[in-house]
Amino acid sequence: MRLPGSAADTAILSTILFPIFSAAIGNIDCTRVVVNKIPFNLKELGGARSVMHSVDLGPSRTNTTYTIDICKPLGKAKDVNKDDQCPHGTRVCAIEHQISDEEGKDVLMRVYPIAGELHEQLNGKDMNAKWELLKNSESNDDPTEEGLLLEMNGGYKPEDGKSRPQKAVVKFLCDKSRTGLENLPKPENPFEEGKDKREEGGEDKDDGSPSLQFVSYTEANDADVLELKWKTKYACEDANPVVEHWGFFTWFLIIAFMSTAAYLIFGSWLNYNRYGARGWDLLPHGDTLRDLPYLLKDWFRRVLNTVQGGGSRGGYAAV
Ligand SMILES: *[C@@H]1O[C@H](CO)[C@@H](O)[C@H](O)[C@H]1NC(C)=O
Repeated sequence: MRLPGSAADTAILSTILFPIFSAAIGNIDCTRVVVNKIPFNLKELGGARSVMHSVDLGPSRTNTTYTIDICKPLGKAKDVNKDDQCPHGTRVCAIEHQISDEEGKDVLMRVYPIAGELHEQLNGKDMNAKWELLKNSESNDDPTEEGLLLEMNGGYKPEDGKSRPQKAVVKFLCDKSRTGLENLPKPENPFEEGKDKREEGGEDKDDGSPSLQFVSYTEANDADVLELKWKTKYACEDANPVVEHWGFFTWFLIIAFMSTAAYLIFGSWLNYNRYGARGWDLLPHGDTLRDLPYLLKDWFRRVLNTVQGGGSRGGYAAV
């Protein structure tokens, strides 16, 4: 048998791989948000969703589009200049246009992340996402409101040569009549290549009001705060979120697969380097793998024999 010795290596590999994956995946699980033991599934709201806010400045106006994805980082568009896009890891992106009223001239002013996992960026911080029940939240005035409050940090906005910290607060309000995707505008950038999110959305409402709305943008010393409001039935506490038992199993499969792959690759590399192995010999336990079909056949035959034998002797097997 060649190196590496199987069990120990697999164990070590899974130990190394597990925390990396749980950190990466744990952060983006919008399918199971559990707050005060109440589970919510906000998967349907995932994807790039936008709101537009317009400020009248007299001779011109500023239209800012805020795009949010609560389930994963926003995607990048290939055909858009890098500086005109939010950095990798952004969850809430602001795109600011200045429109002069008379000429109708539209100038892209700035693009900056409000929130996201941006610690690798020069100015960004950890997203540090926090969920709260609305009724328990101190920052919410109305205790009768049912829903969730999400806070996401980590953004920064370039202003006067400085960088202002940003954060987003999203209020998910229980509204049984809405999925949360009604009347949403199409995101300005194709945050997800080739996908028109509008088409996937819920039925548009007659009153025309979008389910996701801009509430305020407040400048403050510690961080500027973008507040959004999202009316959706998925924020209702009895939204019967099916607790998915797939979680563990999926995990198990991913880890098993990654570990096996890593083990095979590493083992082959070792065999190649140490013993100059080629072909079948590259694989760790190559001999065993090669014999596997025969071993299986043998095993099947034995099982078959046992079953048939047991049958013919009548009642012998029933212990
Ligand atoms: C800017 O916002 C105003 C007010 O909502 C809207 O009427 C106008 O169409 C917007 N302009 C652009 C270019 O999006």
